[in-house]
Amino acid sequence: LLLSISLWPLSGLSQFFDSEDGSSSKILIKGGTVVNADHQEVADVYVEDGIIVAVRPNIKVADDVTVLDATGKLVMPGGIDPHTHLAMEFMGTETIDNFFSGQAAALAGGTTMHIDFVIPVNGSLSKGYEAYVEKAKLSCMDYGFHMAITKWDDVVPKEMEIMVEKGINSFKFFLAYKGSLMISDELLLEGLKKCKSLGALAMVHAENGDAVFEGQKRMIELGITGPEGHALSRPPVLEGEATARAIRLAAFVNAPLYIVHVMSSDAMEEISRAQKSGQNVIGEPVVSGLVLDDSVLWDPDFITAAKFVMSPPIRAKGHGKVLQAALSTGILKLVGTDHCTFNSAQKSLGIDDFRKIPNGVNGIEERMHLVWDTMVESGQISATDYVRVTSTECAKLFNIYPRKGAIRAGSDADIIIFNPNSTFHISAHSHHSRSDTNVYEGRSGKGKVEVTIAGGRIVWENEELNVVPGSGKYISMPPFNYLYHGINKADEKYLTSLKAPVNRIKQSL
Ligand code: URP
Ligand code: ZN
Ligand code: ZN
Ligand code: ZN
Repeated sequence: LLLSISLWPLSGLSQFFDSEDGSSSKILIKGGTVVNADHQEVADVYVEDGIIVAVRPNIKVADDVTVLDATGKLVMPGGIDPHTHLAMEFMGTETIDNFFSGQAAALAGGTTMHIDFVIPVNGSLSKGYEAYVEKAKLSCMDYGFHMAITKWDDVVPKEMEIMVEKGINSFKFFLAYKGSLMISDELLLEGLKKCKSLGALAMVHAENGDAVFEGQKRMIELGITGPEGHALSRPPVLEGEATARAIRLAAFVNAPLYIVHVMSSDAMEEISRAQKSGQNVIGEPVVSGLVLDDSVLWDPDFITAAKFVMSPPIRAKGHGKVLQAALSTGILKLVGTDHCTFNSAQKSLGIDDFRKIPNGVNGIEERMHLVWDTMVESGQISATDYVRVTSTECAKLFNIYPRKGAIRAGSDADIIIFNPNSTFHISAHSHHSRSDTNVYEGRSGKGKVEVTIAGGRIVWENEELNVVPGSGKYISMPPFNYLYHGINKADEKYLTSLKAPVNRIKQSL
């Protein structure tokens, strides 16, 4: 493929920065089946200056328009990855994919927007925000930010207000990573209340960090220092416990909740139970959890096993199938990747101790293909559902629909042309991430993203990227998404229910 790893130092990329390139600002996609989350039909799509202008059959255009024939193919909204970590400093190193290489990989795989997690600097949200604004200057596709909350004092809630004004409408709380990102239940409660008052969505990394710490000690005492110790030290029960705890605390303050990277049936069951009781809990599976199993962590070759180390861990066979089923029935709502890549040298930081292996796997380039193959080709979901779980639901949750997540007049021209009869093939030799490994190495399957249009530019065609650093836009995301509709009424009802017995007691005195 066009971008090989050796070309990645920025100086070597100039040959691809063809900003005033041939791709016209007017594009007609002819004869494809346009698939949205709610409907599909054969129609043409006409794009001008980055915006979809018309979607209907038989659009006639002038000669200056680039025409793409999509006959027999699917025309779908570009993917939106709700969960990525580009240029993140973590576990003593920094992810190998930055905002340029990670996004280039995304575009080659049909994803046209992602939401990345800003990590505060020494607990300061504004410093963290500024650092990520700098990192994101390399962007070649649209992106938004979530923000992690890693400490609590008088300043943090005020800074959360400022972040919402800056277009961040979600905050992530880590119940794991003791000693670094982990927060207490007390902080989680404060955070949930503050999120609710701001109309922001609280997100949780649900593992019991104290128990993980204990589990790790146990493994080391037993002399288990390899990557398998990672999975053994943090079993599904610890994910189930933290998921249940976060859900119950969110219920206690009546705040919507988003559980990131749901990896086990244990966590899924807690989400399902809460939903049945009427609670607004969103569950996000990630591709690795849907398609991989933990047998890989026992590989005797350290690097082969260590590349699969992420948290929560990839689970035993069976969990993935359960998560797929939950995705197909709507218990789990949208698919992320948790793209957080480290190369072999970085993974080797933990060669003598699994606790030092930087946690994270790739997926930003592979998500669209693997979800299609795993979920649609297998008959578990329809093409319209595919659009919902890879794009539309994310746009709705983070309140940018229908600007994103739809092929309709007025929406951003983020579009893929997908050939369901072609095949994809995954390898570190051909992928666009800077990582030297790929956790999906050797996989192939049905369906192929043949063209990606991002912001009205053809950025991926004929297996070639045409991307420009700095061309991606920051997408400001307003608070009070659909989960907040009616929440005040529920609060009023709760208060009324409290007042009745209190008044009775007063009268009897
Ligand atoms: O292993 C993981 N998931 N790394 C990224 C950080 C996180 O917890 O999301
Ligand atoms: Zn996490
Ligand atoms: Zn993550
Ligand atoms: Zn190959």
